[in-house]
Amino acid sequence: VSVTVPIDGTPVAVPAAWLRLQCLCDECQIPAIRDRMFVLHSEPADLHAVSISDAEGEVTIEWSSGHMSVFPATELSRLAAISQRGTWRASHWGPEHPIRRVEAADFWADPDARTSALEAARGDGVAIISGVASESGEVERFLNRLGIALRETPFDRVHDVKAVPAGYTISDTSNALAPHNDLASYSWPPSGQALHMLRNCTEGGESILIDAWRVVEELRVDEPRMFAALTEVKAPHRTWSEAAENFSYEPMVRLDVDGRVAGVRFSNHTLQPLPLSEPRLDDFYAAYRELGRRFDDPANQLRLRMLDGDLLLISGHRIVHGRTAYAVTEAHRHVQDAYFDFDDLLGVLDRLTGVAR
Ligand SMILES: [Fe+2]
Ligand SMILES: [Zn+2]
Repeated sequence: VSVTVPIDGTPVAVPAAWLRLQCLCDECQIPAIRDRMFVLHSEPADLHAVSISDAEGEVTIEWSSGHMSVFPATELSRLAAISQRGTWRASHWGPEHPIRRVEAADFWADPDARTSALEAARGDGVAIISGVASESGEVERFLNRLGIALRETPFDRVHDVKAVPAGYTISDTSNALAPHNDLASYSWPPSGQALHMLRNCTEGGESILIDAWRVVEELRVDEPRMFAALTEVKAPHRTWSEAAENFSYEPMVRLDVDGRVAGVRFSNHTLQPLPLSEPRLDDFYAAYRELGRRFDDPANQLRLRMLDGDLLLISGHRIVHGRTAYAVTEAHRHVQDAYFDFDDLLGVLDRLTGVAR
């Protein structure tokens, strides 16, 4: 059952339930908070409008339940805008893609620069803020200044990536790091990562970034059977230290309800043996081999040298990252990274652009 109301001057048919839920009266919502108290099932299922009047910039509706709702025109246009929120689409990119780079000073001083960086982080899954002070803890202060809380793990709050003798991951060595994303060992790995280069080495230690969503979408076209195995066969991952333990058992590729790739977990150094009872082991390992080959193929890799003070904002379920090896004599190379919930970054962007209203 629909109700036709004017939105921004145009008559639009909306479902009765869509509009009834938005009633602004004191019975239906708590005015200051705008949290809803009204529940749809408190009125009959055949809910419809008995009368609609449009006068002096306000639409008044009498519902079949006897309830009256008044919607100012501005409220109807606000509702239409809200209903479009979240419909943005990622743009997939290849190795020649210019990563958006914004100076930290501009980022903080200029809301447009901030918007530009955060829009790139959303659309591309990665942006670089440069000129962030090379001071320990700056990555956390940066996120907190944006209003973003850290996602801590029992392994670390802020992870020091340095060649140290007693680390808990391969990143704590000077070895090459094959493209991966972090903490695949969580059922829901951190969806956001901030990676701050305090001091880079002079040779080696080049950074690798890949839009894994693009690579996996290509694999879907080229090798449908492999793609199916990655979306349907669960693969175990583990992170552990002397003090903590962490294990997940999930497919490597997650699709959203529209069938688009919405999450990739890939972490060769932490993959565990699959259960031998899994009937599609051969398909899985063929797919795993091929996906790993594609991530390691320089033709798919964006390579860049991170400068001292560069801070990467990364969509953790999308971008796989790695680095080339560097000499142990350059053990001063120092990265600090921290995790957060990418939804919080999107919230900061929506407040900046006025989408949150
Ligand atoms: Fe990593
Ligand atoms: Zn009401």
